[in-house]
Amino acid sequence: MKYGRIVGWGKYAPARVLTNADLAKMVDTSDEWIVTRTGIRQRHIAGEGETTATMSAAASRAALTQAGLSPADLDLIILATTSPDYLLPAASSLVQELLGAKCGAFQLQAGCTGFVYGLATAQAFISTGLHKNVLVIGAETISRNVDWKDRETCVLFGDGAGAVIVQACDEPTGVLSFVLGSDGSGAQHLRINMGAHEVITPETIQRGDHFLRMNGREVFKFATRVMGQAATEAILQAGMSLSDIDLLIPHQANLRIIELAARHLGLAMDKVLVNIQDYGNTSAASIPIALVEAIEQGRCKEGDNLCLVGFGAGLTWAAAVVRWGVSERPFAMSSLFTPVVKARERAQVTWRVAQTAAAMRVMTARHAVQKRTAQAVEAVKSRASAALLPLYARGDKRYTRDRHD
Ligand code: ACO
Repeated sequence: MKYGRIVGWGKYAPARVLTNADLAKMVDTSDEWIVTRTGIRQRHIAGEGETTATMSAAASRAALTQAGLSPADLDLIILATTSPDYLLPAASSLVQELLGAKCGAFQLQAGCTGFVYGLATAQAFISTGLHKNVLVIGAETISRNVDWKDRETCVLFGDGAGAVIVQACDEPTGVLSFVLGSDGSGAQHLRINMGAHEVITPETIQRGDHFLRMNGREVFKFATRVMGQAATEAILQAGMSLSDIDLLIPHQANLRIIELAARHLGLAMDKVLVNIQDYGNTSAASIPIALVEAIEQGRCKEGDNLCLVGFGAGLTWAAAVVRWGVSERPFAMSSLFTPVVKARERAQVTWRVAQTAAAMRVMTARHAVQKRTAQAVEAVKSRASAALLPLYARGDKRYTRDRHD
């Protein structure tokens, strides 16, 4: 069987930066709220002429240069996105044209999870010997589907692209395992309500069907449940234990979700890549951009085991264990690996997931009590001032009469 080594990487972020302070001038929000609830400080927003295809091409050119390859060497292009330039044609074909490549190209949609789905697909083409060099891209211009009047979503998202080249090799490297998941019963929690289910009319535009809508709390609960579980599955499938993982590269949607996932896995935060403060949630671009930053920061060393994990619209989730470089590193667990160890690891994760779910229920209940108390206080205040108003009015009249007398 062939393995797929990552030999090239690149990223692209638009020059235009939108800070929390900028957003506070547009909607009723504050830097303090955004930072404490999400960890985001700024995001990049595509400018005129920048699209998913152009940003993908820029990231891909950097990846090709890094790999020492030319576009003609590519056997396949996979572009993961939820914000293609057009509904038709696929942005992957636009990227193929922009690069001057002569290979097949297709677009893949699995929400923010798309890049990991793409990596798994590239691995499948490579392990079967069908292809040698596969370009996998995650890119988004999601800002164009954001309702800039909706403070619950507009503070979260940003644009950008990340790309890698996966190349066939014989050493056990690259994607060693992957887990892909989907639960369409949660589809309504994260959606852009525009597509072939209904003809686009002035009414659908008026309703804002072209904007991204989200039930943040439901997505939050879903994300905290699946991130740890998916990562654990992929790690066990690779014949490893959590202690074999050198770096976790999670989807950057919310710092609190990332911290909870690390807690589920029992990983210290210094083993987790976080760059949400600079980019916000770039959906399918988030994991490849984070991966490229990790490489640039020297956090991926020869033989390191990385775990990539994401969740997103669908709802979907995916995780992959990636061996960085080609140097041999015996799996710490492989010689000892037994069903007992595996069962213990699963039990530990289930226990941590239950603990976190309980903590979240307490947090939600406390939040509801605080909200109801504040509402009750407001109601008493407004009844009291309604009752006192006639008295004040009478007092005012007396005062006015006295003065004139
Ligand atoms: N500024 C100020 N206040 C705000 C803002 C804002 N930008 N947004 C919401 N609020 C208010 C709400 O109205 C609410 O007020 P209320 O209590 O009077 O009703 C209050 O803040 C708290 O709202 P919550 O929804 O409880 O806030 P929460 O702590 O859950 O954080 C958030 C909201 C950040 C959206 C969180 O739920 C989250 O991150 N969810 C996951 C979202 C996500 O990951 N989406 C991407 C999926 S990936 C993809 O495929 C695109």
